[in-house]
Amino acid sequence: MKTMNHFRKTLAVLAAAAMLAGCSSSSSPSSASSAGSSTAAAGSTSETVYSIGLAQLVDHPSLNTIRDAMLDEFKKEGYVDGENLKINYQNAAGKTSNLDSIMSGYATDGVDAIIAIATPTAMSAQNYADQAPVIFSAVSDPVEAGLVESLEEPGGNITGTSDEIQVDEIVDLMLELTPDIKTVGMLYNPGEANSVATTSRFKEYAESKGLTVTEKTGTDNTTMQQAAVELANSVDAMFSPNDNTVATGMVSLGQVARDAGVPYYVGADSMVETGGFATVGINYEDLGRESARMTIDVLNGANPATLPVKVFKDDLNVYINEDVLKDLESKGKTKVEVPASLEEDENVIKVTTTE
Ligand code: TRP
Repeated sequence: MKTMNHFRKTLAVLAAAAMLAGCSSSSSPSSASSAGSSTAAAGSTSETVYSIGLAQLVDHPSLNTIRDAMLDEFKKEGYVDGENLKINYQNAAGKTSNLDSIMSGYATDGVDAIIAIATPTAMSAQNYADQAPVIFSAVSDPVEAGLVESLEEPGGNITGTSDEIQVDEIVDLMLELTPDIKTVGMLYNPGEANSVATTSRFKEYAESKGLTVTEKTGTDNTTMQQAAVELANSVDAMFSPNDNTVATGMVSLGQVARDAGVPYYVGADSMVETGGFATVGINYEDLGRESARMTIDVLNGANPATLPVKVFKDDLNVYINEDVLKDLESKGKTKVEVPASLEEDENVIKVTTTE
């Protein structure tokens, strides 16, 4: 299933050529990266205009950070939307049922590349990888999600960046900040492959540290809220991975845990900022920028099948929400302490709640 760049979307090119008579599509068959792109007629220089489909699953702070960093990086690298780059941005508004029509629209348009932010988006884009190369962004576990054969050698016309969650560091942080906890309840959407992969790794490590792990799941805001209430009443601590459904409802889910005096650990900085207690995680702006640079490489002819997935798992910071910390201390249900070693650590970032 190794789709080479120059084979992609021949049909789409023909369709585009038929529709846009006068706008020259790919003229040089030897130039893989210009297939389907048009040539700007303005001025005396003819410049390749790449078209990109940029699809985002839902609006939540982390995915928005990734998207904005990506757009900024394109600009920095000299790819300006509306000039030598045409970005067709689509947001699925949290409904995976919207994804397929977004992707098939990109295929019909004959875009030069599809960028897919978050796992469900990437899994939908994968179905069109025979028509345009796919660069995914912030996929927690690309192998488990079936997107690539291996991180080093993706194997298909799809590659990208991963925000592999460092579950052992998060569990270690839980035991450091709240040493008395015995039970942890995981809250996530089982329909998100990213969450399924991360929670199973989390469970394994947490149990190896002597914790008892339970779970409740939800598939939308309402069921997630209900699951959070049930969990908060029955466990010592809660954990959510980088789950897009949780992140979208994080403000109210975080409040449920705070009201119950339960420390709620999460998978991303943004989820701490919107009401979770703490995490160990990466900088998503860096990940967004790298996703843009990989896209540029692919537009310039790099083969996704052999372009390794870039995994962000170094340069981690600890994020602690001070408002939540105060709440937990005043509720007094669980012993919370920030060890002096963490107080002095420059990689510890204290945040306050933003909504
Ligand atoms: N990693 C998630 C996925 O694979 C996407 C994601 C990135 C995310 N940052 C996040 C989800 C923050 C929740 C919170 O789909």
